[in-house]
Amino acid sequence: MSLSRHINADEVIEKCKEHPHRKHAGQEGRQTLHQSWSRDEDAARAPKYTIPEFGIPSKAAYQLLHDETALDGNPLLNLASFVHTWMPEEANKLIMENMNKNQVDLDEYPAATIIHNRCISMLADLWKAPKDCKAIGTSTAGSSEAIMLGGLALKKRWQEARKAAGKDHYHPNIVFGSNAQVALEKFARYWDVEARLVPVTESTNFVMNPHDALQFIDENTIGVMVILGSTYTGHFEDVQLMSDLLDDLEKRTGLDIPIHVDGASGAFIAPFAYPNYKWAFDVKRVHSINTSGHKFGLVYAGLGWILWKDESMLHKDLIFELHYLGSVEYSFTLNFSKPAAPIIAQMYNFLNLGFDGYRRIAIKDLRNARMLSRALDATYFTVLSNIHKPSEKGRAELESAEDTDDPEFYERGLPVVSFRLSDKFMADYPHVQQAWIQSMLRTKGWIVPNYGGPPTTESTQILRVVVRETLSEDLCERLIVDILEITEALMGTSAYSRLTFADPSSPAHAAGVAAAVALPHSTTFSPVPSHSSYSRAHGVDVGRASAFSSSSFAPIPSDTSYPPSVSSSDSSTPHLAASPAVSAPPSSAPPSLPIVVLEGHARTFSARLIHTILLPFTFIFHLFTAFLYLTSFHSPFSFLSSFGSFSQPGSAVMLSKTLSVANQPDKEHGRPDKNNFGDATGEDAKGQTGFARQC
Ligand SMILES: Cc1ncc(COP(=O)(O)O)c(C=O)c1O
Repeated sequence: MSLSRHINADEVIEKCKEHPHRKHAGQEGRQTLHQSWSRDEDAARAPKYTIPEFGIPSKAAYQLLHDETALDGNPLLNLASFVHTWMPEEANKLIMENMNKNQVDLDEYPAATIIHNRCISMLADLWKAPKDCKAIGTSTAGSSEAIMLGGLALKKRWQEARKAAGKDHYHPNIVFGSNAQVALEKFARYWDVEARLVPVTESTNFVMNPHDALQFIDENTIGVMVILGSTYTGHFEDVQLMSDLLDDLEKRTGLDIPIHVDGASGAFIAPFAYPNYKWAFDVKRVHSINTSGHKFGLVYAGLGWILWKDESMLHKDLIFELHYLGSVEYSFTLNFSKPAAPIIAQMYNFLNLGFDGYRRIAIKDLRNARMLSRALDATYFTVLSNIHKPSEKGRAELESAEDTDDPEFYERGLPVVSFRLSDKFMADYPHVQQAWIQSMLRTKGWIVPNYGGPPTTESTQILRVVVRETLSEDLCERLIVDILEITEALMGTSAYSRLTFADPSSPAHAAGVAAAVALPHSTTFSPVPSHSSYSRAHGVDVGRASAFSSSSFAPIPSDTSYPPSVSSSDSSTPHLAASPAVSAPPSSAPPSLPIVVLEGHARTFSARLIHTILLPFTFIFHLFTAFLYLTSFHSPFSFLSSFGSFSQPGSAVMLSKTLSVANQPDKEHGRPDKNNFGDATGEDAKGQTGFARQC
C-alpha cells in the first residue's frame, strides 16, 4: 500500500488554470469532481478529494467505482504477484456469508474462533511440530505482520537473556540474506534492530549461503531469518544447514542463535511438493515460521500465519490479556480487529483440498513453471530459477521413471520462473532493453515485472513469472508465444541478421517449440494441444478439452514420445538439435475421434469402452460439424452457424473451427496460427514470426 498524500483540490485547479498547456483542462471546479458517463447527474458531482457533503445514489457510487477499478490489471494475468486470485464458488459464498464478522469478537463469534484454532493445529501438524512441544500461533494480516511478530519474539527472548546476564541489551541485530523481502527490513527498522544483510551473488543462486551468514553473527544477534522461497528467484535457503552450522557455532562460542523461517510462499509449497524435505519445526533451531495464507495457502489477500514451535518461545510479556466483551482474550497481534472470513476460507481449502489437493496443485504449478523455463532456456533467455533442473535423484532416476512430475526429481523451489536475456542475445542485439519486454507484455495484458537483482547484484535485470494455480497450461503456452513474439519483434528492429533465432529451420527455433509443447515421459501431460484449465475437479488434474484439433480428441498412447526427437535422456533439458518432427504429429497418432478426453486419464478401460460405443455417432457428428463449417463461412446457409453458437459456446461453431484446423496442413503440430492465435493474414501476420508463430 502506498503512503498517500492529501491532495489540495484548490491547488490542483489553480495549477491547471495557469499551466500554459492545460488551460483547456475543463470547466471551473470540474477537475476535482468525479466524472462519470452515468446519466445520473448526481454521480458527476461527487468531489474526488473531499468527502461529499451529500452522498450520491448507491447505483451511481457503484458505477463510478466499478468503472474506475476497470483500470486495474487483470488479476488472472498478474504474474508479478504471489498472491492468490481465485477461489471456488462455495468459498466465495462462505466469504460473503462471513464478511461481516470480526475475528476478535470471541464471544460473539465462537465458531470463527474454533475454526481459527483448528487452522493453527493443522499448520502445526503440517510443519512437523514435535509432539512433546506446545505449538502456539495466530493469524495475521499477511506474512509482513507475521514477520514483525516473529522478530519481536526473538528480540524479547534475547533481551531477557542479556538482562539476566547483566549485559547490554540495547543493540540487537538480526541476520538475513540481502535477497530478503522488504518485510524483513521493515521489521529491523521499525523495531530498532540492526539489519545485517548477508550478500548474495549469482553463484549463491541469489540466496543466502548459511556459511556466509556465520560471519555476521555475534553476541547481539537475536536470530537468523532463513527464507524458504526467495521472492527474487524462488530458491529455498538451506534451513537444516543453517541450523547445523549454528549448533557448531554454539559449541565453539556458547552463542545460542535461533532461526525464524520466512515461509511466506514456501511453507505452503514445501510440505506438499517435498514432503521429506527438512526445513520446518523438525529442524532443531527453528523457533517460528510464518506464511501467507493468501499466497500458496490459496486464499484471497488478507491472511497470514505465524506459529512458534513451543509456547516457551513466545515471551509471556508479549501476550496481552484482554477483558473484553465478557470474556478473556489472549492476543499477540499488531492489529486488534481482523476479518474472520479469510480464516474461514483457509479452513475451506484445508477441508476441500486436503493434503492431496494441495499437492496436486503444487505439482501442476511446478510442471507449468518447468515448461515455461525450458521454453525460455532454449531460446533467447537464461533462466535463473532452478526448479526445471534435475536434482541428484532426477539425474539418477528420471530416465527410467514412470511419473516424471515428481518434484523431487528437480531442484527444490517455488513455482517461479526468473529469467533474463541470455549473454549471447545481449551481445547480438545490444539495442534491446530487457525492460521493454515487461512493457510490451503489459500491452497484451500480462503483468510480468522486470527488476534489478538483490542488493549487490542490482545490475542483473530479472524478469519473473509466478506460476500460480490460475496460470493454466494453456495460458502458460500463450505466455511463451507472447514473450517470444515480443522478443523477436524487438530483434526485428535491429539491422542484424535474424537468421540465428528466427529462422524456422534453426536449432534454437525447434528447441524452443519442443520445450514449450512437450514434457517427455510425463504421465499427466498430453502433448496434443488441448485446453487446460485450473479446475480443481477431482480426477481432472488439469481439465483439458480440445482446443485446436480433432486429433486432440483422441487418447494418447502412453508409449507415444512426442516430439520423437526429444529423447528420454532429455526429459528436463530440451533437445537442442533441429527437430523436424516438431512440425508433424507422430505418425502413430490414433485416428481422430470427437470424444472429449480429459487428460491422459482417459486411457482407462471405461474411456475406451465409451469410445467404441460412440464411434458411429461420432462419425455422424463429424459430418454434421463439417456441414456447419461449410455453411458458416461460405454459403447462404451461414445463419446455421449462429444456431450452433446459440445453444452454448464452444458447440457447433467451435467444433467446426476445430475441424477446419484439423483439415489444414498440419505444419506446426496441429496448431496453425490462423485458427488458434488470430488471423495470421494481413496486418496480424506481420508481428508473428519465428518461434512466436510456432508455439
Ligand atoms: C519471502 C517473502 N516474505 C515476506 C513477504 C511479505 O508477505 P505479505 O505480502 O503476505 O505481507 C513476501 C511477499 O511476497 C515474500 O515473498
